Amino acid sequence: MSVGIEQLAVYVPPSVLSLDELAAARGVPPEKFREGLGVREMAIAPPCEDVVTLAASAGARALRASRVDPGDIGMLLVATETGVDHAKPVSIFVHELLGIGRQCRVYELKHACYAGTAALMSAADWVRAGGTRPRRALVIAADIARYAIGSPGEPTQGAGAVAMVIGREPWSLVLGEESGTYAGNVYDFWRPLGRREALVDGKYSVECYLEALAGAFRAYRTLERPALGTDEPLSGRLARFLYHTPFPKMAAKAHRRLLEIDWSGTTLAGDRLEEAIVASYRDAVAPGLEAVARVGNTYTASLYLCLAALLEREGPRLAGQRLGLFSYGSGCCAEFFTGLVPSGVAVQAGVAELLRERTTIDVATYERLVREGDSGGEPPPGFTGEFVFRGVRDERREYARLAPALAA
Ligand code: CAA
Repeated sequence: MSVGIEQLAVYVPPSVLSLDELAAARGVPPEKFREGLGVREMAIAPPCEDVVTLAASAGARALRASRVDPGDIGMLLVATETGVDHAKPVSIFVHELLGIGRQCRVYELKHACYAGTAALMSAADWVRAGGTRPRRALVIAADIARYAIGSPGEPTQGAGAVAMVIGREPWSLVLGEESGTYAGNVYDFWRPLGRREALVDGKYSVECYLEALAGAFRAYRTLERPALGTDEPLSGRLARFLYHTPFPKMAAKAHRRLLEIDWSGTTLAGDRLEEAIVASYRDAVAPGLEAVARVGNTYTASLYLCLAALLEREGPRLAGQRLGLFSYGSGCCAEFFTGLVPSGVAVQAGVAELLRERTTIDVATYERLVREGDSGGEPPPGFTGEFVFRGVRDERREYARLAPALAA
């Protein structure tokens, strides 16, 4: 039975900061951010947005695009590491805002940037377990990436959400049934209770990511069906590779590590190996990184932002081909899996339109928004979200849906 992503939709906040401007303000050469990290811009959430409104805006777009009645959603999973309460899940606020029915399994998942994949796999398993019953799940990955002002992590912030309708009519991506996993307790990136900004051992986190990639990818290679021949590279069967992308250069490092493993049984070596790696990155990875370079890190939504942007731009050209996807969550857990782009794929995830509609802010405004945090309030001019966070009253968070004229 085919199970996978029927439709997906994206939401990113409407304010954007140029990283050339941030580099100038921090006294850093702009090439360090542009080439050293591969980033160009980052999305900044206004005070009226938190992870609930990001998730709900993406969810509303996905439900509309798939023409699914909210009442037909039997499972709603929201994956995030930007939770708003220690007990009350983000997902139940989203459940109400989207008008999803009472007969629904609803919960929030957290495992750093891996939670979106945990949610996707749980939803796919739930759909498969239903046999011929027409089960549909809504999976939303949403995050606001925050590091301290002036820290090395600062240019790798961002914000956004991706919502995916999962079911037995996977018009966007048919999920493979096998996946390679890897887990281990490492302190590479974490956010102690009570802190808004993450703590990170940056260079070590890159090493942990690459080690987890090697573990998950090696595990997957043994599970591939039909089985790989002796020394046969898996990459020959995959048209594109999508990686969890905290910053685009990380995807370049990841692809290099993957190919070194995948091609270790071949005769490629020296200059020829180097040329082949550069060409593979150029053709099979770089075209999928345009959006993430302009939004920044969206933590658990990052891999799926890459997927949505790729399918929106190149879906029909990729029809009938397989993609390799790698998910990494600090701490850590990782998963490598594959998906087949079906014929007839027609994804309108809204990425190009959202990126076009954004308003540029300067560094002083960005710093003010960071200080204000998600304090609630009125939407700024040009706001494209459908939901706003009004603020906290009696220790309870309050949300509202905007009048349709304001919503995109
Ligand atoms: N021109 C061009 N490139 C330049 C340059 C210049 N003038 N100056 C420096 N660079 C290059 C460096 O050579 C380096 O490239 P390589 O890694 O290819 O060698 C790159 O710019 C980064 O520079 P630094 O090595 O000086 O590193 P940094 O102090 O800027 O920190 C970072 C980089 C560790 C990634 C930091 O941004 C960070 O901590 N980010 C947050 C953590 C993170 O994203 N980790 C990723 C793995 S964990 C994960 O994926 C989960 C998650 O989402 C957080």
